[in-house]
Amino acid sequence: MLLSLMHPALRAVRARGDLYFGPSRWPSGQRARWPAAHLFAHWPSGRLAHGTLLHRFQNETVGLWRAAMECGITHNGPLARRRGPRRLALWPNLTRLNRRRMSEKIRNTVVIAVGNQKGGVGKTTNTIQLAGALAERGRRSLIIDLDMTSGATKALRAPTDGWNSSFELLTGAENAEDTIITNEEGEVALPPNIHLVPSSRKLAELDTFLALNPWLIHQDLLIEPINRLRGKYDYVFLDTPPQKTKTTIPALKAADFAVLSAMPDHLAVSALAEALSDIVAAQRHANERLALLGVIVCAVPRPKTRLARELVAYVERTCVDAAGHTLKFSAEISRSVVVQEAQKMGQTILQYQGDHPVADEYRTLAKEFEDRLAAMRQSPPIPLTEEVTHA
Ligand SMILES: Nc1ncnc2c1ncn2[C@@H]1O[C@H](COP(=O)(O)OP(=O)(O)OP(=O)(O)O)[C@@H](O)[C@H]1O
Ligand SMILES: [Mg+2]
Repeated sequence: MLLSLMHPALRAVRARGDLYFGPSRWPSGQRARWPAAHLFAHWPSGRLAHGTLLHRFQNETVGLWRAAMECGITHNGPLARRRGPRRLALWPNLTRLNRRRMSEKIRNTVVIAVGNQKGGVGKTTNTIQLAGALAERGRRSLIIDLDMTSGATKALRAPTDGWNSSFELLTGAENAEDTIITNEEGEVALPPNIHLVPSSRKLAELDTFLALNPWLIHQDLLIEPINRLRGKYDYVFLDTPPQKTKTTIPALKAADFAVLSAMPDHLAVSALAEALSDIVAAQRHANERLALLGVIVCAVPRPKTRLARELVAYVERTCVDAAGHTLKFSAEISRSVVVQEAQKMGQTILQYQGDHPVADEYRTLAKEFEDRLAAMRQSPPIPLTEEVTHA
């Protein structure tokens, strides 16, 4: 605290009689022992009030804030727009994300790995559109792009180079929070309530990184970063690459649920069978609480072709829970050019053309997704078996 009070930036704040809302780092750059909000209010009486508040004591933060407001302390932050013109001095290094964290509610984060061994089967599209439909339901999602080809990053029009990426997240080179792009950065217009950890070509160096760090356990790379993010999002989607690459395995280890994506195609059935075997292997050897939440069948031509009918029949027959109920989501996503059009604009279909039937299909899917999650949490599913996957 003493350091904070001595810092020139804070002295300037005090001189102006402003409210200071500081980060959890001391000005010296040293990390504070607790993630805390430091509030300094220079009351009109000349008294300096200081509060060190842990994130979770949000009410106290708000309380001190309000008290400062009542004393006529001014700011120009987001509250100003709601409560009239006031002035707030912000710590220069305080990121917008840090500032927002101070007033966040604690969320019950569910981590979903979206996968399929086959490329181009809608993994990325379904991840983004589902996150968009969940956003309409008031949920906040983080998409972590684990694919070196940066499908989700490009679809959301985020930069694939020069920013912290999933490589820094996986290797621990940066704190998980510092790899996240939000709407508030201003440089990337992400859809509302969707945040992104972009991917980069650096992911190709993951093998080398692991070879140089023999004590690190490959499959555990995502555990710590994801644990840091728990509580901040309703959903963390791990958009995995095709094939079992160096990022798919940590994703299946860190996820609570897996969702598979499939498109009618002559190789769809064998690719899905492989993806199911991977989930079984992950359950058996790495993550016994991992459960298959469901299979999204997308890009279904209307009227349905023979291939589409075969895929649907295969999924209904093969992907079943212990009680024999199908895990295929009943909401199927139709093939439509609007999907590509929305992607071209870096938007979700719900933003781009919210009244389109495909937008409604994603809304139905989001509801089914949440209903199923709620049901699965009440009675955890019995792990899949090889027999189930190859029935
Ligand atoms: N419902 C749909 N209608 C029309 N096209 C679709 C639909 N869903 C996805 N697509 C298109 O299919 C292509 C592949 O989709 P996507 O990139 O989501 O697949 P992927 O499985 O993530 O691919 P990769 O394995 O390369 O990461 C994209 O061009 C996307 O626009
Ligand atoms: Mg993809």
